[in-house]
Amino acid sequence: MNTPENTAATWHPVARSADLRPGANIVAGFAEGQELALWRAADGTAQAWENRCPHRSVRFTLGQVIDNRLACAYHGWQYEAGSGQCASIPAHPAMQAPRNVCAKTFGTAEAAGMLWVHLSPEAPPVPDELRNAVPAGWHFCRTLTVRASAGTVRKELARHGMASPAWRGRLGGTETVALILDAQTRLAFIHLWTEAAPGSAAMKALHAAARQLRTDIEALPHQG
Ligand code: FES
Repeated sequence: MNTPENTAATWHPVARSADLRPGANIVAGFAEGQELALWRAADGTAQAWENRCPHRSVRFTLGQVIDNRLACAYHGWQYEAGSGQCASIPAHPAMQAPRNVCAKTFGTAEAAGMLWVHLSPEAPPVPDELRNAVPAGWHFCRTLTVRASAGTVRKELARHGMASPAWRGRLGGTETVALILDAQTRLAFIHLWTEAAPGSAAMKALHAAARQLRTDIEALPHQG
């Protein structure tokens, strides 16, 4: 059963919304070990797909976005945004694309400056605690890569006095939100947002605190 706490935990902040340009780039991502291809259709809708073409399993991140479709790099099969349905096989332009060939798609939402992904077929709404996690006017600091489980990261942030589910508190002396991505068993990403202005002394202090936080977590003897 989804409590507010674990509902928050199953929405994964996989990328900054600003890093996905409509009809342009494909970004590689992870959530709970699931490899993802993240992209934005020309109409602006965000997509999170399993990073494997259903034809011969080539990574979608090697392909390209063509309007509202993702085209695989290998044989050029094209898949529709939203449904993931195969829509075109360039080697056989007169042939109807088979209806049973479909990219695996995941639920997405955009909130707090991030693209969130839900791996279950029935994605619940993004909880308000996450939707409103980053106050208006705050700035992105950095994404910290930490070789430790997301559980270890959460415990360490709690030890720093930061509170779930958005993990808000003071880091390096400045008010910060730490959005945690459970990427793989022993790999987590921490997206840091702050009230500190870019280039300010407070922002520099936060960068230094973030590096120290990573060092401290990775040095823990029993991560889990
Ligand atoms: S592997 Fe993707 S089109 Fe063939």
